[in-house]
Parts: sequence; structure tokens; C-alpha cells
Amino acid sequence: RAAADRHRPAFHFTAPAGWLNDPNGLTQRDGEYHLFYQFNPHAPVHDRIHWGHAVSTDLVNWRDLPIALAPSEGPDVDGCWSGVLVYDGDTPTIVYSGRHGDRELPCVAIGTPDLVEWTKLDVNPVIPSAPPGVDITAFRDHCVWREGSIWRQLIGSGIRGKGGTAFLYESPNLRDWTYIGPLLVGDGAAGEPSAPDWTGTMWECVDMFRIGDDGSAHRDVLVFSAWDDGVTHHPLYWTGRYESDRFTPTALHRLDLGGRYFYAPQSMRDESGRRLLFGWLQEGRPNSAAVAAGWSGVMSLPRVVTPAPDGSLHQSPAPEVDALRAEQLVTDSHVLSGDPVHIVSGDELDLEMLLTIPDGGSVTIVLRASDDDEERTTLHLTRQGDHAELSLDRTRSSLDAEVDASSRAGRVPVDDDGSVAIRILVDHSALEIFAGGVPLTTRIYPTREDALGVRLSGEGVRARVCAWAMRPTAREAVDVDGAAA
Ligand code: FRU
Repeated sequence: RAAADRHRPAFHFTAPAGWLNDPNGLTQRDGEYHLFYQFNPHAPVHDRIHWGHAVSTDLVNWRDLPIALAPSEGPDVDGCWSGVLVYDGDTPTIVYSGRHGDRELPCVAIGTPDLVEWTKLDVNPVIPSAPPGVDITAFRDHCVWREGSIWRQLIGSGIRGKGGTAFLYESPNLRDWTYIGPLLVGDGAAGEPSAPDWTGTMWECVDMFRIGDDGSAHRDVLVFSAWDDGVTHHPLYWTGRYESDRFTPTALHRLDLGGRYFYAPQSMRDESGRRLLFGWLQEGRPNSAAVAAGWSGVMSLPRVVTPAPDGSLHQSPAPEVDALRAEQLVTDSHVLSGDPVHIVSGDELDLEMLLTIPDGGSVTIVLRASDDDEERTTLHLTRQGDHAELSLDRTRSSLDAEVDASSRAGRVPVDDDGSVAIRILVDHSALEIFAGGVPLTTRIYPTREDALGVRLSGEGVRARVCAWAMRPTAREAVDVDGAAA
């Protein structure tokens, strides 16, 4: 691993080279998972986006396949933007946003059974314009499903002066679409952009699904990424009920306390019925640093989403991630008092902790800390009854003054006995934290070679800690159109 590449993750998926953003077209077929993604194979910048493609049988070791979609003369000449893959009978079909100038319109491509080769329809774009008479902020990204014999689709958008929205359409054949109306309209135009639950002026990557059994526990979920005028804010979700062409919300939630560092997520139901979620871990360093490194963007680890007791969603890394544990380094119990306890060192780690925190008490977890603490990333949990305030401090994560050092904070649930289950995946610059089923994802760029320490401190806090060294994922590349490293 070259020094310039010390930030490149070892067990998260990254593009072979160039730029990666959103996960697209998530599918499992005959046991194989397919991950497509927004990809610029030519440079680590967002420009003339293609669909990259990788397959896996275990969700963690991926094999690169040739580029699935590339911009070509016509409605997607400037990019093949985000979308989904559905099966029309046995015919794999991609619905994506073709970019032409600054317009995006829905396009369709048909695939070979192995999902490797794709043919765009001559009739693209399949919807020639956004709904007439509505002053919109944007019109892109797709969520497509079947209701009986008809197809339905949501397209992300925003109504000027009101807020983000998702427009609902239906079709008998995925080609001819009839506009139905807005599923739900947000109030972002009147909201406060700095609030962590601001719904934005446009909803990117809308994704709707039903979760839980069909009894009283089930809920409908509408995920979107709040966007405004070129700025990616954060992913949110509404829980509620989808019925009679409308979504009636019960509550709005933050999908990830890391905000824009887990952006544009897409979910899928796999063959075993699990709801899996992937998101884009965007960079927190300047473009020039990504250009020098030759790559940009990390795909999250797969997450399993289940209903949480309080009506929200519980997220945790898919159990397949456990297969990447190479060696157990630590299994320990501590009663924390005063001085920090050194737990383990590493930049490819899986940490599992069960913390029991007295009411009003707090615990500090330090990650990627240099021996003298000059560089360190600090997580802080303060218990207040049945919840804890989780905060992330990146002001000392890196000596490099150019990287983002903004803080994050939010609420996580605490069990009746005062305990919180924590899972932390450290993978060079990628950091995925789960506390009581609530994720906080971020990126950090330590410069010092000894910035590897994990330490714990608190007062009267009981901690059970396990730590594993992770195995870099196997990667078998094929020629993805001259893009292979
Ligand atoms: C979200 C997004 C989508 C768009 C794609 C373009 O990150 O902006 O709205 O389809 O990325 O790459």
C-alpha cells in the first residue's frame, strides 16, 4: 500500500480507479448479488457518469465486471445517472436518469441474463419531460416496483417555493408512463438548511419499501437524500403509510447521523427476504487530494434494516461482514474509571462493545489515535435515561488542515439496564459506527503512521470489548474498459 494510498479502504468496496458515487441497480439473482454504481472510470471527479458493475456471492468480496452503461449520443450523452434494476418477467431492465446538458430524463436499458451487456431503448427518454405546469428544482433518480400487473415508479424532484417531492407514475410495460401526482411534498423551502433533519429543496434517490411482517408491526418507509442547489445535505426517511397514491407520514428520521457521509442510499430485498442498504461514503478531503490519489468515493458495507421498537429503523452491518474477521485480538471486560484504557491498535478493525452507562454518566471512545494523542478521533456518549447523546469530534482527526473537521451529534437508544451495543468498523479513511442500531458514518484522514490506537474512558462504566483484525477483501478485476488500476 503506497503512502499516498494510506486512506484507501481495504475491506470496503471502491471503484477500480476513478470516481464512485451512488449505489445503483441492487439485485440478487440465483444467489449472486449485483452492485452497480455511479462511476467515472477516467478520473476521480464527477463527470460523464457511467454505471460500474460488480458481483458477489457473499456481499463482501466483489468481482469487477465490465461497465454496464456508458454515456452515448442521445438523451444520456452527458451521463447515465442513478437508477434501479427490475425484472420484467425474465428480462432485466434498468431504469435510470439520462443526462443531457443540465436536463435529466428517465431512460430504459435491457440486459442479457448475466446482466453484463445492456441495450438502451430507441424510444429513450421514456418520459419526455417533467410534469407540465409544475415549477421544479430537478427531476431524477428512480424507485420502480410492481403492483399486480402494473408498474409504478417514483422520480425525485422538488417544487419551487415548497420543498422536495417524489412524483408517482404508472405503466403497463416500463415504457409508457402516466403521471399520477406527487406522493408527498416536503416543506424544505420554509425550513432551516443547517438543521440535521432539513428536508431540502429536492429529494435525490427516493427509495420506498415496506418493512416488518404484514401484521401491526409493518411500516412503509420513504428514504431520500436532501439536496439543495448543488449541495448534498443528508439522507432522511419518513415512516408512515403508502396507500391510495399517497404517502401519509408518521415521523421523519435521520438515516445516518454522519449526514452527507452516508449519502444517496439504495435498498434491496434479497432472496432471503432481508432489506439490505448500501450508501455512498463521499470524501471529506479536497478534490485535489482525490485526484492525486487517483480514486474517490467508498461504498458502505451492506447493512440490514429491520423495524426498531420505537417505530424507526434499526441498522446493523450484514452478518456476512463477520466473515472478514481474520483474527480476534481482544476479548476483555473493564470497569472504566479515570485514565483511558488502551484496547487495541489498527486501521483495519472490527470492534464490538457493550457499554453499561449509569444515568447521567458518559463514555469516550478514541479511534485512530497517535501515541501522543496529537491525532485522534473522539466519540462521546452521554446517557440521559432511555437514550444517549452520541457525538463525533473530528477536530483532531487529521493534521491536514484541508480535510473536513466538522462535528456530528444525535440521539441513540439505551436499553433498560443502561447498556448500548456499539459496533465500529475502522477501514483506513472509512469509519462506520453503529450505536443501538443507529449509524454514524464518516471519513477521517489521519496523517501520522502511529494514528492507530483505540482507547476507552469513563466513570463507573462497564465495558465488554471484542476486537478483530479484518482481512482485506479479495478482488478479482476484469478489464472494465481501460479503467483497471
Ligand atoms: C446523488 C446524485 C443523484 C444523481 C447522481 C449523479 O448523489 O446526485 O441524484 O442521479 O448522483 O451521479
